[in-house]
Amino acid sequence: MKIGILTAGGDCPGINAAIRGVGKTAILEYGMEVVGISSGFRGLIAKESVCLHEDMLSGILTTGGTILGTSREKPFKKTSDDPSQDKPSLIRKNFAEMGLDVLVCIGGNGTMKTAYRLNEDGFPVIGIPKTIDNDVWGTDRSFGFDSALSIATEALDRLQTTANSHGRTMVMEVMGHNAGWLALESGIAGGADVILIPEIPFDVNVVTRFIGERYKRNKPSSIVVVAEGIAYPEKSGFTSAAHYIARTITETTGIETRETVLGYIQRGGVPTASDRILATEFGTQAVQYAAEGKTGVMVRLSCGVIGAIPLSEVSGKTRIVPADNPLVEKARLLGTCLG
Ligand code: F6P
Repeated sequence: MKIGILTAGGDCPGINAAIRGVGKTAILEYGMEVVGISSGFRGLIAKESVCLHEDMLSGILTTGGTILGTSREKPFKKTSDDPSQDKPSLIRKNFAEMGLDVLVCIGGNGTMKTAYRLNEDGFPVIGIPKTIDNDVWGTDRSFGFDSALSIATEALDRLQTTANSHGRTMVMEVMGHNAGWLALESGIAGGADVILIPEIPFDVNVVTRFIGERYKRNKPSSIVVVAEGIAYPEKSGFTSAAHYIARTITETTGIETRETVLGYIQRGGVPTASDRILATEFGTQAVQYAAEGKTGVMVRLSCGVIGAIPLSEVSGKTRIVPADNPLVEKARLLGTCLG
């Protein structure tokens, strides 16, 4: 068998561990040929690939990013950049010319949508979920999340010392346009006083009152975690959600407030042990499915067990924080302000 691998969407820690899991299992256990497609679906359109030998898979377990490169190319999306290019036809042609028997697509929600479309078109595809947002539908965990969570939590620990020393409110913004998992979990791990996520509408007056009352109760500092996707008046000149919240707190309460936008720091660097293990499990499982001819699925973690879910069930959906999520309830019980 000839197995192709591509990595698409935003990078995150653990992708190389997954590539290694796929490649080593395919070569050592099944004697398959492994082809790495460059830069996500862009490489499939341009027919840019490299044969992955076992020695190329050594030493990558702990490295961040992706050795294959990635892009946010969506071949089925109609764009005006080059209307003459029929990307699905090019993919069809290249897939056949490369002689691929199966394609493993490592990515987030957008990648799973494209993988599903390819599978519908008759290409045998297997998805592997990765994202720091943990918002891929159908899996309890995507790798990358745990590493980003550790980075965000450490950042909160560091901000706490400055908050205490100066008696300030510190607002930290983490990634997550639609899903607030990273804000919620890092906020709980870092002992945040306020956590704002896109799924829970907030009233900024509730937040400022909460911070003001903490100061009246002699709490010298406060920590606020916000997800980048919370609603705020972008047209009023605020450069980020954190900027809006910090400025409003200062102007309303007079309390000295600073903001930090963590940005791409969250996506880089070495994966945590937990992400390395999950990525390795996903990678090896994907090859086992390929060998069994089980395609059109995404490998997933459900209730602690690695398994598969049809791509048709995953495509087009986002795993957001439900209102009745136990962590939301626990945060409320701790007296955390959720806006
Ligand atoms: O990978 C998901 C994500 O990290 C989002 O949380 C974030 O908004 C987005 O990627 C930004 O990534 P880029 O600038 O690479 O498109």
